[in-house]
This record gives sequence, structure tokens and C-alpha cells, in this order.
Amino acid sequence: LRLVLMGPPGAGKGTQAPKIKETYNVCHLATGDMLREEVKKGSELGKEAKKIMDNGGLVSDEIVIGMIGSQLENNPECQLGFILDGFPRNVTQAEKLDEMLAKRKQPLEHAVQLLVNDNLLVSRITGRLIHPASGRSYHKEFAPPKKPMTDDVTGEPLIQRSDDTAETLWKRLETYHKQTDPVADYYKKKGIWTGVDAAQSPKTVWASLSKIFEESK
Ligand code: AP5
Ligand code: ZN
Repeated sequence: LRLVLMGPPGAGKGTQAPKIKETYNVCHLATGDMLREEVKKGSELGKEAKKIMDNGGLVSDEIVIGMIGSQLENNPECQLGFILDGFPRNVTQAEKLDEMLAKRKQPLEHAVQLLVNDNLLVSRITGRLIHPASGRSYHKEFAPPKKPMTDDVTGEPLIQRSDDTAETLWKRLETYHKQTDPVADYYKKKGIWTGVDAAQSPKTVWASLSKIFEESK
């Protein structure tokens, strides 16, 4: 399976991707997670990226394209395919991705866009809790951990992302509509785009996704 999973902030990309990964034995490459790793390490790139992320903008194409390219090249988990989560985010990134995949003779099979109305996303984003080490996400209301603020698996504390404020969310959404909506059109023209109603429960969204992948087998 070679998949681009698109959708606005809080659409459920990070919630659905682990299920797809497990089912299809592919790697899950999330540029946002990779950038947050850099922030945690305190690298120069991390420091630069944090400012941009907390302001809802996009980190430079060169950096994110480089990160994806090197994972596709070197990560053994990507041998049977991949899920790209949060990449590409503009048409330049989409074109570069096509070039990289053409060289490997492994073109994209699906670009699936999780569709949710902007106003539904506020509560999802402001209630999100994250286990930083694994990337597991919970929600205060919609998917609460067994013990408050504690990861179910490791017992470690959960945190909120620094860009998960209502104010930054509006900027992220504005960036999404300006830069990433055209990526959906790009994939529609190529005939590999499918939209999924992601306002439904995670279980229902997963059912719609697996149907798309099964039907095209
Ligand atoms: P990134 O990490 O990609 O953030 P995002 O796109 O804003 O998406 P989120 O991670 O917020 O949402 P999600 O869809 O994964 O939602 P989740 O499943 O967690 O990027 C962050 C930043 O990095 C960007 O702003 C940019 O600055 C930079 N960046 C990243 N990639 C880049 C690139 N390619 N180029 C340039 N810059 C880049 O769900 C959210 C919450 O809702 C959770 O609490 C969950 O439990 C809950 N939930 C999920 N599904 C449901 C449901 N069906 N019903 C109810 N609740 C649900
Ligand atoms: Zn995510």
C-alpha cells in the first residue's frame, strides 16, 4: 500500500495511521512527528521549526522533502509500502514526491483526504493529549486515557502539543486551505483521490478507509 493520508489539523490522520500500518505492514511517516523529534532534541532545525509550527506556518520544503526521501530510501519498514501523514502539504512537495517515487518505480496508489468541517476541529485539537515517546494520542473527552493524563501502555505522563491552542489552530487551518487544498485538486486530476467523511467516530472512519484499500486490491 502506497498512500498519502491528507486532512486538516485534528482530522484523525495520526489516529487512523497506526491501524493502517498494522493491517498493511507499511511504515507511517509523519513529517510533523519528525519535526517534533527535532524540537525535543533541541537541534538547530528543531529551534527553527518550533517557531514556525507554533505560528501555524509551513517548515521549508527542502527540509521536509529531505526527511521523507531519506526515510523512503533507508527505513526497512517502508519496503512493503508507506503511509505519508502530513506530507505533501503544498503542490511543490507533491511534485517532488512524484519524482522520487517515479525513480523507484513505486507510484502512489491512493491519496485519501479526511473531510471534517473546520468548526468541529476546535474541540478535537484543544482536547488532544499526546504520549510524546510513542506519538499515541488521546482526547480528554472523546478518547480518554484509563488514568487521567497517563499513557495506557507505559504509565508515562501525557502532554498537550504547544501548537494545540485555538489561536494557532485557526492559523493552521488558514495555511491548510491556502496551501494544501490545491494538493487535493492535484491528486483529483491524477485520478487517485478519495474523500472520506471523518466527522464520524474513529471506528466508522476506519471502516471507510479499509473498504477503499480492499476494493482496490
Ligand atoms: P502535523 O503534526 O502534521 O499536524 P496537523 O496536520 O495539524 O495534524 P494533527 O496532527 O493536528 O491532526 P491529526 O489529523 O493527526 O489528528 P489526530 O488523529 O491526532 O504538523 C504540525 C506542524 O508541522 C505543521 O503545522 C507545520 O508547521 C509542520 N509541518 C508538518 N509537516 C509539514 C510539511 N510537509 N511541510 C511543511 N511543514 C510541515 O486527532 C486529533 C484529536 O481528535 C485526538 O485527540 C483524537 O483522539 C481525536 N479524534 C481523532 N479522530 C476522531 C474522531 N473520529 N472523532 C472524535 N475525535 C477524534
Ligand atoms: Zn497528526
